Amino acid sequence: MTPNPAVRTRLDPRLFGDGPARDDRFTVVDVWADMVNLPDGHPEKEREFLNRQMNEEACVMENAARSLAEFPDADWGVRKGLARQCADEARHTLNYRRLLEARGGRVGQYPVMNFQYRILGKIDTLVGRLAVQNRSFEADGLDAATFARDEARARGDDELADMYDAQQADEVCHIRLGNDTIKAEISANPRTALQVASALTQGAAAFAQVFAGGGTEVEKYGIAVEARLEAGFSREEVDVAVRMSDARRAAVRERLSSR
Ligand SMILES: [Fe+2]
Ligand SMILES: [Fe+2]
Repeated sequence: MTPNPAVRTRLDPRLFGDGPARDDRFTVVDVWADMVNLPDGHPEKEREFLNRQMNEEACVMENAARSLAEFPDADWGVRKGLARQCADEARHTLNYRRLLEARGGRVGQYPVMNFQYRILGKIDTLVGRLAVQNRSFEADGLDAATFARDEARARGDDELADMYDAQQADEVCHIRLGNDTIKAEISANPRTALQVASALTQGAAAFAQVFAGGGTEVEKYGIAVEARLEAGFSREEVDVAVRMSDARRAAVRERLSSR
């Protein structure tokens, strides 16, 4: 899809912290419209995706590491979960790099965005960060990885399917860390729900700015119901997510068919 500069939004500095360090192999852009967004079936699409996702995994690792450093008094079980997440996301980053290079690409070949890191940098509570990163961004990633695994398997790309399969198992644990921690904190102190709600509102506003030019027009896949249940979402929460996803995909289909 060709970016449409007319719909690009300037990022609100109140919603975005500084980006993570990147060496000069990387071209870092702020918004989706400035990425190289190739159509399905384009010969470069897979390498572009592997490079993009490699950097996203690095941002999630950096977020977990930063939360460990900035919330030293958090419950030990939560800190252990974050430490495990750092190790998992580092492995995911390396897996994407390995596949990118094995398939003829190189690190930094296409632009990357660091929105996950920058959005989390402006959320000042651990429950808020877990709500936005683990329970929202990673839950969306779980749906995507589940679909991509099945699609790769169906076309006989077992190397890619195996990588998604291993990643999916890890992501379930990260989302569960978010769900379990948030539920425990809210039951111990109901006011925590306000911190979660305000972080989600802030995260959604920031996300909308990054993707103002498109990039969320996905209608290929919906909610990975079984995986989300395994990740600690209640049946009711999953049902709501399915209804919202179905409505969103129907709207995307309608927009695409009227073009
Ligand atoms: Fe990951
Ligand atoms: Fe993760």
